[in-house]
Amino acid sequence: MPANAALRDYLKTRRSVGIGFLKDPGPIPAELDEILTIGTRVPDHGKFVPWRLIVIEGDARAKAGEKLAAIQKARNPAIDEASLDNERRQFLPAPVTIGVLLSPKPNPKAPEMEQLLSAGNVCFNLSHAAFALGFAASWTNRWYGFDPEAQQMLGARGGERFVGFIHIGTPTTVIEDRDRPDLRKVVTRWVG
Ligand SMILES: Cc1cc2nc3c(=O)[nH]c(=O)nc-3n(C[C@H](O)[C@H](O)[C@H](O)COP(=O)(O)O)c2cc1C
Repeated sequence: MPANAALRDYLKTRRSVGIGFLKDPGPIPAELDEILTIGTRVPDHGKFVPWRLIVIEGDARAKAGEKLAAIQKARNPAIDEASLDNERRQFLPAPVTIGVLLSPKPNPKAPEMEQLLSAGNVCFNLSHAAFALGFAASWTNRWYGFDPEAQQMLGARGGERFVGFIHIGTPTTVIEDRDRPDLRKVVTRWVG
Protein backbone atom coordinates (compact mmCIF):
# COMPACT_ATOMS: atom_id res chain seq x y z
CA MET A 1 0.00 0.00 0.00
CA PRO A 2 1.52 3.37 -0.92
CA ALA A 3 2.32 5.89 1.82
CA ASN A 4 -0.46 8.40 2.34
CA ALA A 5 1.15 11.70 3.30
CA ALA A 6 -2.14 13.54 3.88
CA LEU A 7 -3.37 10.85 6.25
CA ARG A 8 -0.05 10.75 8.07
CA ASP A 9 -0.01 14.52 8.50
CA TYR A 10 -3.58 14.53 9.77
CA LEU A 11 -2.81 11.81 12.33
CA LYS A 12 0.30 13.65 13.48
CA THR A 13 -1.46 16.98 14.00
CA ARG A 14 -5.11 16.20 14.81
CA ARG A 15 -6.61 17.93 17.84
CA SER A 16 -10.04 17.82 19.37
CA VAL A 17 -12.09 21.02 19.30
CA GLY A 18 -14.37 21.38 22.33
CA ILE A 19 -18.13 21.64 21.93
CA GLY A 20 -18.09 25.37 22.83
CA PHE A 21 -16.00 26.07 19.74
CA LEU A 22 -18.15 24.07 17.32
CA LYS A 23 -20.73 26.07 15.42
CA ASP A 24 -22.89 25.91 12.30
CA PRO A 25 -22.67 24.84 9.60
CA GLY A 26 -22.73 21.20 10.56
CA PRO A 27 -22.81 18.28 8.17
CA ILE A 28 -25.70 18.15 5.74
CA PRO A 29 -27.64 14.84 5.79
CA ALA A 30 -25.49 13.21 3.08
CA GLU A 31 -22.33 14.24 4.93
CA LEU A 32 -23.68 12.96 8.23
CA ASP A 33 -24.48 9.64 6.55
CA GLU A 34 -20.90 9.49 5.33
CA ILE A 35 -19.57 10.29 8.81
CA LEU A 36 -21.75 7.53 10.26
CA THR A 37 -20.63 5.08 7.56
CA ILE A 38 -16.95 5.79 8.19
CA GLY A 39 -17.48 5.92 11.95
CA THR A 40 -18.94 2.43 12.09
CA ARG A 41 -16.22 0.88 9.93
CA VAL A 42 -14.26 -0.39 12.91
CA PRO A 43 -12.63 -3.57 14.14
CA ASP A 44 -15.35 -5.75 15.69
CA HIS A 45 -14.19 -9.16 16.93
CA GLY A 46 -16.93 -11.68 16.13
CA LYS A 47 -18.87 -9.12 14.09
CA PHE A 48 -21.42 -8.70 16.88
CA VAL A 49 -21.92 -4.98 16.16
CA PRO A 50 -21.86 -4.28 19.91
CA TRP A 51 -22.81 -0.61 19.66
CA ARG A 52 -25.62 1.72 18.64
CA LEU A 53 -25.57 5.37 17.75
CA ILE A 54 -28.01 8.11 18.75
CA VAL A 55 -27.92 11.32 16.69
CA ILE A 56 -28.89 14.52 18.51
CA GLU A 57 -29.30 17.42 16.09
CA GLY A 58 -31.48 20.45 15.33
CA ASP A 59 -34.24 21.14 17.85
CA ALA A 60 -33.51 17.84 19.63
CA ARG A 61 -30.35 19.41 21.12
CA ALA A 62 -32.24 21.98 23.18
CA LYS A 63 -34.98 19.45 23.98
CA ALA A 64 -32.43 16.96 25.35
CA GLY A 65 -30.77 19.74 27.35
CA GLU A 66 -34.14 20.75 28.80
CA LYS A 67 -34.71 17.16 29.93
CA LEU A 68 -31.26 16.99 31.53
CA ALA A 69 -32.08 20.21 33.40
CA ALA A 70 -35.41 18.69 34.52
CA ILE A 71 -33.62 15.59 35.87
CA GLN A 72 -31.27 17.77 37.89
CA LYS A 73 -34.09 20.02 39.11
CA ALA A 74 -36.11 17.01 40.31
CA ARG A 75 -33.09 15.78 42.27
CA ASN A 76 -32.16 19.16 43.64
CA PRO A 77 -35.08 21.63 43.71
CA ALA A 78 -32.73 24.33 45.07
CA ILE A 79 -30.43 24.13 42.03
CA ASP A 80 -29.48 27.59 40.75
CA GLU A 81 -30.49 28.93 37.37
CA ALA A 82 -26.89 29.06 36.03
CA SER A 83 -26.46 25.33 36.67
CA LEU A 84 -29.77 24.60 34.98
CA ASP A 85 -28.68 26.69 32.03
CA ASN A 86 -25.47 24.67 31.79
CA GLU A 87 -27.58 21.53 31.50
CA ARG A 88 -29.80 23.11 28.86
CA ARG A 89 -26.67 23.84 26.81
CA GLN A 90 -25.05 20.38 27.08
CA PHE A 91 -25.58 19.77 23.33
CA LEU A 92 -25.05 23.37 22.19
CA PRO A 93 -23.71 25.07 20.19
CA ALA A 94 -22.35 22.11 18.18
CA PRO A 95 -24.76 21.41 15.29
CA VAL A 96 -24.73 17.66 15.83
CA THR A 97 -23.78 15.21 18.55
CA ILE A 98 -23.60 11.45 18.11
CA GLY A 99 -24.01 9.41 21.27
CA VAL A 100 -22.28 6.03 21.07
CA LEU A 101 -23.73 3.22 23.15
CA LEU A 102 -22.01 0.01 24.09
CA SER A 103 -24.71 -2.52 23.22
CA PRO A 104 -23.12 -5.71 24.48
CA LYS A 105 -23.87 -9.04 22.85
CA PRO A 106 -22.76 -11.57 25.46
CA ASN A 107 -20.64 -14.20 23.75
CA PRO A 108 -17.47 -16.02 24.86
CA LYS A 109 -15.87 -15.30 21.48
CA ALA A 110 -15.63 -11.61 22.27
CA PRO A 111 -15.63 -10.72 25.97
CA GLU A 112 -17.30 -7.43 26.90
CA MET A 113 -13.94 -5.70 27.15
CA GLU A 114 -13.38 -6.32 23.43
CA GLN A 115 -16.88 -5.12 22.60
CA LEU A 116 -16.25 -1.98 24.67
CA LEU A 117 -13.06 -1.34 22.73
CA SER A 118 -14.95 -1.69 19.48
CA ALA A 119 -17.45 0.92 20.70
CA GLY A 120 -14.55 3.20 21.66
CA ASN A 121 -13.21 2.79 18.15
CA VAL A 122 -16.55 3.98 16.79
CA CYS A 123 -16.17 7.15 18.87
CA PHE A 124 -12.72 7.96 17.59
CA ASN A 125 -13.55 6.95 14.02
CA LEU A 126 -16.55 9.29 14.02
CA SER A 127 -14.17 12.05 15.03
CA HIS A 128 -11.74 11.17 12.23
CA ALA A 129 -14.63 11.07 9.76
CA ALA A 130 -15.78 14.53 10.83
CA PHE A 131 -12.30 15.97 10.22
CA ALA A 132 -12.04 14.12 6.90
CA LEU A 133 -15.19 15.92 5.74
CA GLY A 134 -13.86 19.33 6.79
CA PHE A 135 -15.47 19.64 10.23
CA ALA A 136 -14.01 19.44 13.72
CA ALA A 137 -15.05 17.24 16.61
CA SER A 138 -14.58 16.34 20.24
CA TRP A 139 -15.44 13.43 22.49
CA THR A 140 -17.05 13.90 25.89
CA ASN A 141 -18.72 11.68 28.40
CA ARG A 142 -20.25 13.81 31.09
CA TRP A 143 -22.60 12.88 33.98
CA TYR A 144 -25.49 12.11 31.66
CA GLY A 145 -23.37 9.42 30.00
CA PHE A 146 -23.09 7.56 33.32
CA ASP A 147 -26.43 8.35 34.94
CA PRO A 148 -29.03 5.58 34.36
CA GLU A 149 -32.05 7.94 34.16
CA ALA A 150 -30.29 10.36 31.79
CA GLN A 151 -28.94 7.52 29.67
CA GLN A 152 -32.42 6.06 29.28
CA MET A 153 -33.84 9.49 28.43
CA LEU A 154 -31.17 9.79 25.71
CA GLY A 155 -32.06 6.44 24.20
CA ALA A 156 -30.15 3.71 26.04
CA ARG A 157 -32.02 0.41 26.27
CA GLY A 158 -31.57 -2.37 28.83
CA GLY A 159 -27.94 -3.47 29.14
CA GLU A 160 -26.64 -0.56 27.07
CA ARG A 161 -24.49 2.31 28.29
CA PHE A 162 -22.96 5.34 26.64
CA VAL A 163 -19.25 5.31 25.99
CA GLY A 164 -19.06 8.75 24.47
CA PHE A 165 -20.69 11.68 22.76
CA ILE A 166 -19.01 12.99 19.62
CA HIS A 167 -19.80 16.64 19.00
CA ILE A 168 -19.31 17.81 15.41
CA GLY A 169 -19.33 21.21 13.74
CA THR A 170 -17.35 23.98 12.13
CA PRO A 171 -14.48 25.12 14.35
CA THR A 172 -14.47 28.76 15.42
CA THR A 173 -10.93 28.73 16.72
CA VAL A 174 -7.60 27.02 16.27
CA ILE A 175 -6.78 24.91 19.31
CA GLU A 176 -3.16 24.94 20.49
CA ASP A 177 -1.59 21.52 20.71
CA ARG A 178 -1.28 19.94 24.13
CA ASP A 179 1.65 18.01 25.56
CA ARG A 180 1.93 14.56 24.09
CA PRO A 181 3.29 11.50 25.88
CA ASP A 182 7.02 10.94 26.01
CA LEU A 183 7.49 7.71 24.07
CA ARG A 184 10.50 6.82 26.21
CA LYS A 185 8.16 6.64 29.21
CA VAL A 186 5.36 4.64 27.65
CA VAL A 187 7.13 2.33 25.20
CA THR A 188 9.48 -0.48 26.14
CA ARG A 189 10.86 -3.36 24.16
CA TRP A 190 10.12 -6.86 25.39
CA VAL A 191 13.40 -8.67 25.58
CA GLY A 192 12.40 -11.89 27.31
C1 LIG B 1 -13.71 8.49 27.01
C2 LIG B 1 -13.43 9.96 26.93
C3 LIG B 1 -14.26 10.82 27.62
C4 LIG B 1 -14.03 12.19 27.56
N1 LIG B 1 -14.87 13.03 28.24
C5 LIG B 1 -14.65 14.35 28.22
C6 LIG B 1 -15.51 15.24 28.91
O1 LIG B 1 -16.50 14.81 29.52
N2 LIG B 1 -15.26 16.56 28.85
C7 LIG B 1 -14.20 17.05 28.14
O2 LIG B 1 -14.00 18.26 28.13
N3 LIG B 1 -13.37 16.23 27.45
C8 LIG B 1 -13.57 14.91 27.49
N4 LIG B 1 -12.76 14.08 26.78
C9 LIG B 1 -11.73 14.65 25.89
C10 LIG B 1 -10.37 14.80 26.54
O3 LIG B 1 -10.46 15.12 27.86
C11 LIG B 1 -9.57 15.87 25.84
O4 LIG B 1 -10.37 16.89 25.42
C12 LIG B 1 -8.89 15.21 24.70
O5 LIG B 1 -8.02 14.31 25.26
C13 LIG B 1 -8.18 16.20 23.79
O6 LIG B 1 -7.13 15.54 23.15
P1 LIG B 1 -6.93 15.47 21.59
O7 LIG B 1 -6.86 16.87 21.10
O8 LIG B 1 -5.67 14.71 21.41
O9 LIG B 1 -8.11 14.76 21.01
C14 LIG B 1 -12.96 12.70 26.81
C15 LIG B 1 -12.13 11.81 26.12
C16 LIG B 1 -12.35 10.47 26.18
C17 LIG B 1 -11.43 9.54 25.42
